[in-house]
Amino acid sequence: MKNKPISNTLLQAVKHLNANDWISGDHMGQQLGISRAAVWKLITLLKNYGIKIDSHKAKGYRMTSPLYLLEEEKIREALTINQENLHFELFESMPSTNDYLMQKSTFDSNPTVCACELQEMGKGRLGRTWQSPFGQNIYLSYLWTFQQDFSALMGLSLVVGISVLKALEGIGLKDLKIKWPNDVYCHAKKIAGVLIEIRAESNSATRVVIGTGLNVNMLEAEEINQNWTSCQAELGNPVDRNELISLYLNELTTSLAKFEKEGLTVFMDEWDQFDFLKGQQIVLENQKQLYHGQVMGINESGALLLNTGETVRPFNAGDTSIQKRS
Ligand code: BTN
Repeated sequence: MKNKPISNTLLQAVKHLNANDWISGDHMGQQLGISRAAVWKLITLLKNYGIKIDSHKAKGYRMTSPLYLLEEEKIREALTINQENLHFELFESMPSTNDYLMQKSTFDSNPTVCACELQEMGKGRLGRTWQSPFGQNIYLSYLWTFQQDFSALMGLSLVVGISVLKALEGIGLKDLKIKWPNDVYCHAKKIAGVLIEIRAESNSATRVVIGTGLNVNMLEAEEINQNWTSCQAELGNPVDRNELISLYLNELTTSLAKFEKEGLTVFMDEWDQFDFLKGQQIVLENQKQLYHGQVMGINESGALLLNTGETVRPFNAGDTSIQKRS
């Protein structure tokens, strides 16, 4: 498995398919400066990625619904943060955007965004797999350096969850909540997840890779065995992923800088407002042990407070599920 950069020819081919009802192989070839055989190869590639394209002997090719691929220029256009030192690396396919940034050797402390159209081995929390079909969702990792020791960064997960939620609010989604530590839910169905990995430490600086998977235009996924939704499923229309990425990067960058300066305290009220588990009876699995209790919220380090009946106990990690009433 290799990292494959987005090819400009593929990007242009998709634009032509979007702009035309039917387009002949000849015409597309002329527009792109490639042979008919090369056009056919591109169409086959897209079909293999799962994109629905009709073929007709006389008329050519037709895409059944529009597809907007990732474009750095479009993302940059809608950024309101300082982007001078912000690097982008966009790929057509790769094993995992988190793995890429974790392995990349970089000595400068500028933030880097890595996103792709398809992940072959998308990783979820707790060793799970993250479904990452071509062109449908956002698979994005952000390499960020804190000028702090990692011990000062408890609560980072929660701040990231809040940023994802606010970006989704920005495109009009309603009834959004965060399930501790950072799963974002819409109408009680999971819409986004975050996987944070620590990169390296030097001179008391901490590099983190913040990986975000956001279900955007996906409408079917048999492999997912939990209640899930996507932006398109909720809004009834496709969403431009470039626009949503800009919104998210604006929120995330502003929040990371604020968190570095002021800590989690300034996010507590927002957390309280978005807390999916507060007041719920849950089961928390931590290091193969199960803990039952009622969620009392979080403490100032972002740990989940669980009232087990005997005591209120803080948990820094764990997998939670709401207990069904019998
Ligand atoms: C979860 O289990 O809820 C976390 C999912 C995180 C998925 C994202 S997609 C981009 C980044 N690259 C990965 O391999 N995983 C994260």
